[in-house]
Amino acid sequence: MNELNALIAQTIQSIDWRKKPENLYQPIEYILSQGGKRIRPHLCLMACRMFGGDVQKAIVPAVAFEMLHNFTLIHDDIMDKADLRRGKETVYKKWNTDIAILSGDTLFAKAFEYMLSYQGEGKYDLLNLLTKTSVEICEGQQYDLDFEQMENVSVQQYLEMIRLKTSVMLAACLQAGAIVANANKTHQEIIYQFGIKIGLAFQIQDDFLDVYADVEKFGKQVGGDIAENKKTYMLLQLINVIDNQDKQNLDYYMTQNLEKQDKYQKVKALYDKYKIGDMAKQIINTYFEEAMDLLKQINIADENKKELFDFANKLMNRDY
Ligand code: IPE
Ligand code: IPE
Ligand code: MG
Ligand code: MG
Ligand code: MG
Repeated sequence: MNELNALIAQTIQSIDWRKKPENLYQPIEYILSQGGKRIRPHLCLMACRMFGGDVQKAIVPAVAFEMLHNFTLIHDDIMDKADLRRGKETVYKKWNTDIAILSGDTLFAKAFEYMLSYQGEGKYDLLNLLTKTSVEICEGQQYDLDFEQMENVSVQQYLEMIRLKTSVMLAACLQAGAIVANANKTHQEIIYQFGIKIGLAFQIQDDFLDVYADVEKFGKQVGGDIAENKKTYMLLQLINVIDNQDKQNLDYYMTQNLEKQDKYQKVKALYDKYKIGDMAKQIINTYFEEAMDLLKQINIADENKKELFDFANKLMNRDY
């Protein structure tokens, strides 16, 4: 674990962003140097190792995907009007929206440039995966925005939205590791599907934390989803179980321009009352179990799967 951490950190640190114009590159350096959990590169390296590949080779796709991830965050924070990320001011707040758009675009392109530096078989597959994933994330993000304006969103529509905005990148990182390790197509497909399940659980956990996290640990403002009328798992489940009186109240909170903190407290009180957090935890466990079933289908020694299993397990119980 520590060794992978170091490899990822060193590689990201070694990329030189001291270029001009400074307002274009400084935000990139700023967000990449904050770190974050670096889940995506870890998944890529661990999948590669699990299938018997060389992690030194997998560092290129690992970092390319981490660059793509950070690009999505720069733009996501504009769309979600989020002021805080990783305990720091978001890029568009620290600079401005124009700069955040442009440095995001640059980082997006740089992710592809970085992937192009990959030497060896599977390069086309890796670039293909990065491309497909980028488009799907945009599709997911658009659904996420569309749903803000929609009153009726089904759990099924929500799951498809988070599959696209979040799961496909985790899945792609795992598959990228498998590609580097030259794993067969069946194994590539299984590890991808494993990533989809882990990703669904991961995003539902993120929705949960948006309500219940400790800001200091989470590094993001809580209540952001409530403020924006995001159709999260929390909200959809609440709507499923709520009684008529509370539903009228909820509709009122959602449509009248309440002060942000006030709205958060009122909606949170409904989540508390109906124990929506427990329901979220339940479905997270279900997806985790489904992911583990997929991992079992991969016919390699159990001891080689342990690293990924432990990592996924920790991810499900995170509080940041
Ligand atoms: C945040 O991802 C965006 C989501 C998909 C929820 P992470 O929680 O992995 O963010 P960092 O990189 O660790 O900050
Ligand atoms: C994450 O959704 C999706 C992407 C960033 C692509 P969120 O909007 O919930 O992520 P956070 O909570 O801002 O990290
Ligand atoms: Mg968002
Ligand atoms: Mg967001
Ligand atoms: Mg979120």
